[in-house]
Amino acid sequence: MRENLIIKNAAQLVTCSGFKAKQGKEMSNLHVIENGALVIENGTIRSVGKTNDILKGFNDKDYKISKFNVIDAAGKAVLPGFVDSHTHFVFGGYRAEEFSWRLRGDSYMDILERGGGILSTVKATRAAKKETLIKTGIKRLNSMLSFGVTTVEGKSGYGLDLKTEIKQLEVMKELNRRHPIDVVSTFLGAHALPEEYKGRADAFIDDIIDNMLPVVIDGNLAEFCDVFCEKNVFSVEQSRRLLLKAKENGLKIKIHADEIERLGGAELAAEIGAVSADHLLQASDKGINSIAKAGVVATLLPGTAFCLKEPYAKGRYMIDNNCAVALASDLNPGSCFSESIPLIFALATLYMNIDTEEAITALTINGAAALGRADIIGSLDIGKYGDVIILKYPSYQFIPYHVGISTVEKVIKRGRLVFDGLLSKF
Ligand code: NIG
Ligand code: FE
Repeated sequence: MRENLIIKNAAQLVTCSGFKAKQGKEMSNLHVIENGALVIENGTIRSVGKTNDILKGFNDKDYKISKFNVIDAAGKAVLPGFVDSHTHFVFGGYRAEEFSWRLRGDSYMDILERGGGILSTVKATRAAKKETLIKTGIKRLNSMLSFGVTTVEGKSGYGLDLKTEIKQLEVMKELNRRHPIDVVSTFLGAHALPEEYKGRADAFIDDIIDNMLPVVIDGNLAEFCDVFCEKNVFSVEQSRRLLLKAKENGLKIKIHADEIERLGGAELAAEIGAVSADHLLQASDKGINSIAKAGVVATLLPGTAFCLKEPYAKGRYMIDNNCAVALASDLNPGSCFSESIPLIFALATLYMNIDTEEAITALTINGAAALGRADIIGSLDIGKYGDVIILKYPSYQFIPYHVGISTVEKVIKRGRLVFDGLLSKF
């Protein structure tokens, strides 16, 4: 349902204004309006400005205030909904034991190489009923909503066979229909090498290209194609072959690039015109500069570096060298089982030297750009979706300051109030 809503008297209306990714220095300008108001009509933003000016517009008889719900946001900051542009949130089973193994010194890649890791989630996801995946999917989306997320990307990649990859993508389509959060789907058939293809990575890439990609495209099941380009997973050569095929057939491109080893995934992303290059913990300076030049969004996932106890991606260097940086959760059952937006803010600001303003840009307009949607979401601009969050506090500075705690009080999706933290009865 798309609704009519006025939000008035906001201490700060943090518009994040813009219709494309913000690079480098531009990331620090949030375009804040003090004592701001916002009008959403039929789910879409109709006007943005100072409260006095906006309310004056309601005098003529065709534009009646009685047609609108009204929220008084006095003493509160209002922002665009967050865009979590990299997750693997649809999966069967859990891997809590692996967390303990890693604490005792096992590495993420060692666990994968002995048939655990992603392959263990593949077993559980192949066995899971669609209804179960939908149920857990809804629970995870509810949690994200409480953190202010209004659009999320979700990847397949826990099937590694046609049937299960399609099942995961269909589950995401269904979740997009049932839940207020918009779900953007990515086909990640090349997430790991399944047991049945051991030692035959090229043959598996052929299988994806010949048998999976056509079904994904014909069924309109994904907007993006992604690959885990990593030592002992898929090489740059194999990744290029698959991604170019996907691009030729109309999918947009993402890459898990230079996460554990420096393979040149960032350079590949620039070369083939990916929308985003993700992780980049080990990216070379040359790779970073090439994605900045090519306008590829650098999607950083600090929760993953934190959980794997790896050094963080060079976010500060990237912004100083004119990259458009997005931040996302990477929610998945292995390397980062967390959808916490407060955790991302804490890590980005305190450990990556990213400013509060830059981090907000990275989770709004740049997250939208990483999904190819900067024209319709990610900022409070006229014509965009009325996807809005209202904080408990008067300034956006409280977001990282209230460390590890969600500052989001209300979430509005296309003009409709879909989360209200104040409803608690206690
Ligand atoms: O982004 N690195 C590959 N994929 C995920 C982890 C998936 C998993 O461990 O289940 C990531 O870190
Ligand atoms: Fe990932």
